[in-house]
Amino acid sequence: MKQDMIVILDLGSTENTTLARKIRELGVYSEIYPHDISAEELAALPNVKGVILNGGENRVVDGTPVEVTDCLYQCGLPLLAIDHPTAKCQKTLSALPDEATLRSFLFEDCKAQANWNMKNFISDQVELLRKQIGGKKVLLALSGGVDSSVVAALLLKAVGDRLVCVHVNHGLMRKDESESVLRVFRDELKANLVYVDATERFLGKLENVADPEQKRKIIGSEFIRVFEEEARKLSGIDFLGQGTIYPDIIESGTKTAKMVKSHHNVGGLPEDLQFELVEPLKQLFKDEVRACGLELGLPHSMVFRQPFPGPGLGVRCLGAITRERLEAVRESDAILREEFEKAGLNQKVWQYFTIVPDFKSVGVKNNARCFEYPVIIRAVNTVDAMTASVEELDWPILKGITARILREVPNVNRVCYDISPKPTATIEWE
Ligand code: XMP
Repeated sequence: MKQDMIVILDLGSTENTTLARKIRELGVYSEIYPHDISAEELAALPNVKGVILNGGENRVVDGTPVEVTDCLYQCGLPLLAIDHPTAKCQKTLSALPDEATLRSFLFEDCKAQANWNMKNFISDQVELLRKQIGGKKVLLALSGGVDSSVVAALLLKAVGDRLVCVHVNHGLMRKDESESVLRVFRDELKANLVYVDATERFLGKLENVADPEQKRKIIGSEFIRVFEEEARKLSGIDFLGQGTIYPDIIESGTKTAKMVKSHHNVGGLPEDLQFELVEPLKQLFKDEVRACGLELGLPHSMVFRQPFPGPGLGVRCLGAITRERLEAVRESDAILREEFEKAGLNQKVWQYFTIVPDFKSVGVKNNARCFEYPVIIRAVNTVDAMTASVEELDWPILKGITARILREVPNVNRVCYDISPKPTATIEWE
């Protein structure tokens, strides 16, 4: 990493991430570290130009004030304390700095260079990855999600065909999703990509399984099994690429978090399959991951893809999955996405999809009684997925989508719009 860095020490503030984001937005790289970092550890970090002691209302934990080691005050770097009055720092503020104050600290006190941008990040990472991986090979589970797609593009740039991507289609992908992964990575970027169509295997295992947790477990463990089988077929692989991003690391909040999370992310691969991990996005926030993807030439639709659960449409096809209802979920979801794009709602609404429950109701089609499934539309906005509000869709749009679903999707005779917020509902139905 050649870029200048500002270190934020976490003294119990809830706003470390906001501050790191603000600093990065001004073009200076910033990372968050625990308050008890030693002076030696700090000195070992590359290109540190200044340190911010970020206190906040929680700086007294269990009656004990959270303090940094005294040696830190002698580190010789410009220090800024926020909500942590101390005469040992050059600057003390009572709240997060406004832009002008932050600029003055970064560029006047610390003399930092505004050299944090995706071009520099990519060229740094490519160099680092080449050094780390050498002439060896890297394996990557490429789901088509934002993080795994960006890791793939970055690794491809660094090591070319020594990257082996495995895309497992569990049969629960959205319409055209696996095809677009193949089109982008195999046809356009010429990546070394193993495509496994495991649809029959997954649907077989899921037959008659109605319990949502059980369905999730089967999909998760079967995924590992398929991936493991593919990994065993390939010889001479030393590294495993992971789409770990910065929030995965800092949210756990401890120094050991990085390790625990990384192991967790491997997702239960057997002990005898030993890989060294490669996590080139572990310093990036989600929007930086997207910017990196765009810089690497990935299509907008892939980089701005809405969140999609690992178990895919399996959670939206309620109860025991049948092919008939799975197709109804997939086709209605495709119509919803198409209509949202036409109306520009894909830029505005955080997440939107359809659900097909496992019951039928009476309706009328072509002057005859029919007994078919409903489709439920969900469209929500949220910041962190912990709470969510429903998008107030315009009536003509809802009517247009409903008409298309009823006309084009077999086995469906009703469309409903779920207007429940989270809480009490969740975003997904399952
Ligand atoms: P809920 O339904 O709990 O969903 O309100 C919150 C957000 O999480 C997504 N979600 C998942 N994402 N793997 C994921 O990567 C999963 O297994 C999973 N389940 C739910 C959901 O789509 C929503 O954005």
